[in-house]
Amino acid sequence: MAKTNNYKHWRSEKDDDDIVWLTFDKAGASTNALSKEVLEELESLLGGLEQDLPRGVIIQSGKDNGFIAGADITEFTTIADQSEAEALINRGQGIMDRIEALKCPTLSMINGFCLGGGLELALACDYRIADDGKSTRLGLPEILLGIHPGFGGVLRSTRLLGAPTAMNMMLTGRSVDARRAKRMGLVDQAVPTRHLQNGARQMILTKPPRHKARLMQRLSNAALVRPLLARVMRRTVAKKASKDHYPAPYALIDLWAKHGGNAKAMLRGEAHSVATLVRGDTAQNLIEVFFLQERLKNEGDKSLFTPLRVHVIGGGVMGGDIATWCALQGMRVTIQDRQHKTLARVIKRAHGLYKKKLKRPRPIQEALDNLVPDMDGLGIPQADVIIEAIFENVEAKQGLFKEIEPQMKEGAVLATNTSSIPLEILGEVLQKPDRLVGLHFFNPVAKMQLVEIVHTASTDPEMIKKAAAFTRHIDRLPLPVKSSPGFLVNRVLMPYLIEAVVLESEGVPASAIDQAAVDFGMPMGPILLADTVGLDICLSVAGILGEAMGTEVPDRLKQMVDAGNLGRKSGQGFYRYDKGQAQTPEPNMNDKVPDDLTDRLMLRFVNEAVACLREGVVADADLLDGGVIFGTGFAPFRGGPMHYLRAEGKEALHARLQTLEQAHGSRFKPDAGWNDL
Ligand code: NAI
Repeated sequence: MAKTNNYKHWRSEKDDDDIVWLTFDKAGASTNALSKEVLEELESLLGGLEQDLPRGVIIQSGKDNGFIAGADITEFTTIADQSEAEALINRGQGIMDRIEALKCPTLSMINGFCLGGGLELALACDYRIADDGKSTRLGLPEILLGIHPGFGGVLRSTRLLGAPTAMNMMLTGRSVDARRAKRMGLVDQAVPTRHLQNGARQMILTKPPRHKARLMQRLSNAALVRPLLARVMRRTVAKKASKDHYPAPYALIDLWAKHGGNAKAMLRGEAHSVATLVRGDTAQNLIEVFFLQERLKNEGDKSLFTPLRVHVIGGGVMGGDIATWCALQGMRVTIQDRQHKTLARVIKRAHGLYKKKLKRPRPIQEALDNLVPDMDGLGIPQADVIIEAIFENVEAKQGLFKEIEPQMKEGAVLATNTSSIPLEILGEVLQKPDRLVGLHFFNPVAKMQLVEIVHTASTDPEMIKKAAAFTRHIDRLPLPVKSSPGFLVNRVLMPYLIEAVVLESEGVPASAIDQAAVDFGMPMGPILLADTVGLDICLSVAGILGEAMGTEVPDRLKQMVDAGNLGRKSGQGFYRYDKGQAQTPEPNMNDKVPDDLTDRLMLRFVNEAVACLREGVVADADLLDGGVIFGTGFAPFRGGPMHYLRAEGKEALHARLQTLEQAHGSRFKPDAGWNDL
């Protein structure tokens, strides 16, 4: 092959069939992203191709992990104004247009992720062929960053797939695998890795007809249909996100409704709309959250530890789900419980999850084969990681640790999923207490990305690193936290939940309290959350935290538990439950709602976050924000509690807390940590 190699990020090679293979291999990066420099080089390469037209062009990635992950997000944070943003986007659009206009067949050969700007580039080609392996994902997830596609992705995806499919993909930000992409028409072929190159070459040589939307799909973009479909889309979006908090989905629908079917106007609209959105608070905060997520990922270095075998003890709610999740991620897992029927239940639940996630029989069977019931703990001596998730009881856990420690292999991690017992106490019975760490998962394990890595002052740093690496190997986010009551997540949640219960006992309707939190941007209100967690569990955690912090537990909570009203699981808590669904009354306009309702809830949350920072429960404010967002769902568009504090102004929030302290008492006293901020 003839090579031209004077580019930093691209290689261009012409083969014997006169096909040019453009290989994108971003210099100094493990992942391909479309930065300014990358696009400049592509522009120049296109100039060469336009002048000396080959038989065809195949764009491929030089990285094993994927094709192109999207635009380079770091560049989104330094855009000065609307015109700079529009100029940047116009330039990207110009490149995609030139790819589309090349007078020879063009093809994207896709392996791994092909997201955002990466998929927009692929959409500008005549053909797309994708590796049908497990790691291939195609999607336009810009909405998750508070923007929408801007390099012609709205135009080309709605034209290729029809509006319902394309808009659904963009509005949810969801990605699809290669087979699904083939069924949708997003790629022309989905083939095994070994056929990828040849398949690509054959398409260029034989030039099969390009995929076209079917008649009904084309009609969905017609002027008469768009307003009707747009109305349905707006209604669906409104159920999930408010326009004030998340403007991007609404802007996307407006854009399509206005310009769908008109290529020129649509491209101009895309650029203008994205340029406006990207500089808004929501997008900037969501971009910040993306970086916080990266930061959490970097807390665990996979290369330091390669756990292959995991042993989980306790097959209840948590242990069962932890074991199930680890097996899904390819680990060999033994799961131990005292009862056969518990283990049978674990396997049944696992089957349900695997069916949902993996769909096809072979991978489902492989995952199930990874999960081995083990009543006698035969897996202990081989395990690289042992996770204890039995009853929350000191004697039971200590008894178990004494039994298993002598059987463990050298260097294995011993972890507990305790949510409230200090590691110092659990470690008392161990020969080597410094090997014990906390791996505090959240319920439901398959949904909650965060895992708190709990350590004491004397925990072996090697074990903390191994626990964090393990967490990354199972695709969760590790957050190192100090062993202290409630760690981070339960600690910041509890005062907020308690305040909600106090408000309810003062006569404020539960649904009004929840609505205030949802309006602030929480994923569910505190009363519904308490009911969902279980009021008995809330009472026990509140008791433990209350004892440690010297705070009161509301009588109302005790009364509810004494009366057997435990929340969702008993059918009655603050709400009544019908088949597990909360029967929440519509908020009544005549309800008396205190003016300071939102502040009473959210400032207790923020004040506790400040206290955690002062005590060094987590190392810094960014880790705190990341942990709280991924552990509690705290309003992502606000960028976390500390980010919210900075945005509102430290002095202003401090003053609001003092006002609450005067009105409602010492539980609102600003923490000493405010002085250090
Ligand atoms: P659970 O009561 O559902 O399950 C405990 C399981 O452990 C039972 O199946 C029991 O048979 C088994 N077990 C007890 N002693 C055993 C022994 N010596 N050997 C083998 N198996 C034994 O409890 P859950 O809710 O799963 O909690 C487990 C741990 O996880 C507790 O420490 C809890 O604090 C913690 N946790 C719970 C969360 C939740 O939302 N439920 C969240 C995070 C942590």
